[in-house]
Amino acid sequence: MHRVLEPVARYYADKLRAHGTTARGVDWNSPDSQDQRFTELLRVCREDRAASINDYGCGYGALAARLRRDGYHGPYRGYDVAPEMVAAAEAQAGVPDDCRFTSNPRELTVADYTVASGIFNVRLEVAVDEWELHVRDTIDRLAALSLRGFAFNMLTSHADADRMRDDLYYADPAAWLTYCLRKFPRSVALLHDYQLYEFTVLVRTGPD
Ligand SMILES: C[S@@+](CC[C@H](N)C(=O)[O-])C[C@H]1O[C@@H](n2cnc3c(N)ncnc32)[C@H](O)[C@@H]1O
Repeated sequence: MHRVLEPVARYYADKLRAHGTTARGVDWNSPDSQDQRFTELLRVCREDRAASINDYGCGYGALAARLRRDGYHGPYRGYDVAPEMVAAAEAQAGVPDDCRFTSNPRELTVADYTVASGIFNVRLEVAVDEWELHVRDTIDRLAALSLRGFAFNMLTSHADADRMRDDLYYADPAAWLTYCLRKFPRSVALLHDYQLYEFTVLVRTGPD
């Protein structure tokens, strides 16, 4: 596991231990906000219900249940750096049994789309420069895993300063949009218009 991720994995394992397989167990404030994030990220799939999907930082697999509920029936693979999350996902009654989970990054294979909800937020004590290198590497990885496109979200730096926490990473949306446009010039969308202090980036890399 990458050095910067060890404390992150412990942070989330602690949340899971404290709150179980709930939105708070993956450090979201509410099930509604968790679900809203999925809605924004899934725009990248353009409603292709047969698409194969990687869920990068899957937590306990809440997206798997959402996908099946929405009629997505293509292969789903969830990956999380915290093995406790993967164990919880596999043990969950509500999660469809044709969905697969792993904490081994080498087991992830290329899918049509890769989505990542909440993986760039908790920086803990890692310096901002180092965290941004990690974010870039991870975006490259999302791209390499995706035939047609990928999507991720980040906390926005356009939030009230007095509500910001020192251990979280607040990203400049314009800077990350520019970064993605330079690397993936075909099609990049920035969604900064929903009611959470964050934004979503959709990157299309395939022909459609
Ligand atoms: C905020 S939680 C969200 C979980 C899930 N995406 C959801 O919305 O229900 C972020 C999850 O990503 C995992 N994670 C963070 N960074 C990661 C990385 N670089 N690779 C894989 N998993 C990561 C954490 O262990 C945690 O379970």
